[in-house]
Amino acid sequence: MNSKIGSNFMKKMQTHVKCRGKFYPRTNESIRRTQVPDDKVPWHVEWAEYSPVMYTAPHLLRTSGELPDWADPEDFGSVHPKWNAVDVNINRKSHMGVYEVHFNKPRNPQGRTGLQGRGCLGRWGPNHAADPIVTRWKTAKGENGASKILTHLKTSMPILQFVAIKRKDCGEWAIPGGMVDPGEDSTSTLLREFLEEALNIEETSAVEERRSIVNQVSRFFRDIAIRQLIHSGYVDDPRNTDNAWMETIAFNFHQPSENADNCLPSLKAGSDAAEAVWVDICHTNSLYASHSDFLEAVAILRGAHW
Ligand code: BGC
Repeated sequence: MNSKIGSNFMKKMQTHVKCRGKFYPRTNESIRRTQVPDDKVPWHVEWAEYSPVMYTAPHLLRTSGELPDWADPEDFGSVHPKWNAVDVNINRKSHMGVYEVHFNKPRNPQGRTGLQGRGCLGRWGPNHAADPIVTRWKTAKGENGASKILTHLKTSMPILQFVAIKRKDCGEWAIPGGMVDPGEDSTSTLLREFLEEALNIEETSAVEERRSIVNQVSRFFRDIAIRQLIHSGYVDDPRNTDNAWMETIAFNFHQPSENADNCLPSLKAGSDAAEAVWVDICHTNSLYASHSDFLEAVAILRGAHW
């Protein structure tokens, strides 16, 4: 990663904020977080009275046999999970290095969040996601019929657009990313999530059309000339807790040509997405979790307006 991108991003990531709100998400404001001041976020800062509420969503408290494959049991009983390792087909390693395990529970490497347990996250420790940031230049046809890249009125910098989806779970706009399935590698997740959420591949029944969409996007995602790692690590996600947290790898796939229509099929929302559209990248984009930080990093990388 370009060092300017890295340092801006890491500065923001030093103190998580979105996972220190008043209420835990998806609980109708019934679960309150202990309010953790900035200076008490790091675990090494003494806070003897710190004893936040313990909360794990009811659907994650079922017995092992009834749990979905993306979730751990609440208590492992006699089974010992392999923390900081790939545990059978579950990746319990963190991008952030070795995390502490305190009283048998992994500890959030970024510090206190004001809530113990897993909240609504499936895994104790890191929960891995992958985010494909697909971009193109914003263009318009000039008088001679050729397309030209549009620049921003204020900054005179070229305008980038990215593929945004509207999440069904919270109604927020986001990058079409998702969770890495058990046994899946994150590169496959990037492709699968994009196909599902931005191209509605699951409901494309015509075999030929389906095959052509998959081939077109796979080719595009494999092209190392257009692919750039933007982030791999912790995400300040509102669902994070003291014992369970989100991590992601975010890659930018940039359509280089001014005539971007050649690279990708038309967008069509599917799966967890209610809408899928191209959106101009700008600092005013208000997006889910750390997604606008990723876009800022992409804008810097590509020399675009932010
Ligand atoms: C989302 C990803 C996001 C991650 C961390 C996942 O649920 O699908 O897009 O980066 O959470 O916030």
